Amino acid sequence: MNIASQASNLLSEHLGIIQPSVAIVLGSGFALELDSVHWQLRASDIPGFVTPTVEGHLGCVTAGTLGRREVLLMQGRVHYYEGNSSDSVTFQVRLANQLNIRNLILISAAGGIRKTLNPGSIMLVEDHICAQPLVATRRERWVYDHSWKDRVATACNDSSLSSGIYVWTIGPSYETPAEIIAFERRGGDAVGMSLVPEALEASALGMRVLAAVVITNYAAGLEEQKLSHKGVLHAATNAQAHLTNLLTVALDQASNLPIVS
Ligand code: HPA
Repeated sequence: MNIASQASNLLSEHLGIIQPSVAIVLGSGFALELDSVHWQLRASDIPGFVTPTVEGHLGCVTAGTLGRREVLLMQGRVHYYEGNSSDSVTFQVRLANQLNIRNLILISAAGGIRKTLNPGSIMLVEDHICAQPLVATRRERWVYDHSWKDRVATACNDSSLSSGIYVWTIGPSYETPAEIIAFERRGGDAVGMSLVPEALEASALGMRVLAAVVITNYAAGLEEQKLSHKGVLHAATNAQAHLTNLLTVALDQASNLPIVS
């Protein structure tokens, strides 16, 4: 039995008759308080689930409810820049798919390139640009579910929520000011080091993907400040209430999903 099947068997045993309809992957510094928790497993107890090394990534999987939905919450994103393989970076997506979860929400921190993207605001991802080559399976269709995204934007009715183009860089270094100018000219609105490999994998598996980035800083060169992971974590923590509201709306707006009875 392959390692993903071992992991999905373990989680299936824990889930029993519960069928989560949405999986949520949270990035650095983010937490989400569920309305009720069925169980929580550490990443190290799940076969194939790589334990994150970056500060701010908890490394656990929680099953529970938020609003009317059963959700599987994955806190412990891993990145290429930690030395992980493509399989490890996208493992959580395949695990969710094996558990028959067809809807995926990806959350991460990003630097704001577009001038109106202030720290603390949230950008729904419309599409992405890869700043470095990324080998991934692609389908000839939108990676991000536009109707889910648009419904969330309308329901939130929040002036600090916008949509835009995410630029993916492999990291781990932050960008140079010249790179940010180049990304802006190419149509990028925000920049970060995660989310895209998972979104591509999920889309190739036919899952619906909603991605949102919390702007934790102005991108390099836009302000006289030195970027640091600590600063990003601090800003992510401050945006917690805003993010929880967005996720609650996103779960509510996911159409054709089973309602928790
Ligand atoms: N650049 C890349 N990744 C990031 C940034 C940034 O400015 N902020 C948060 N993650």
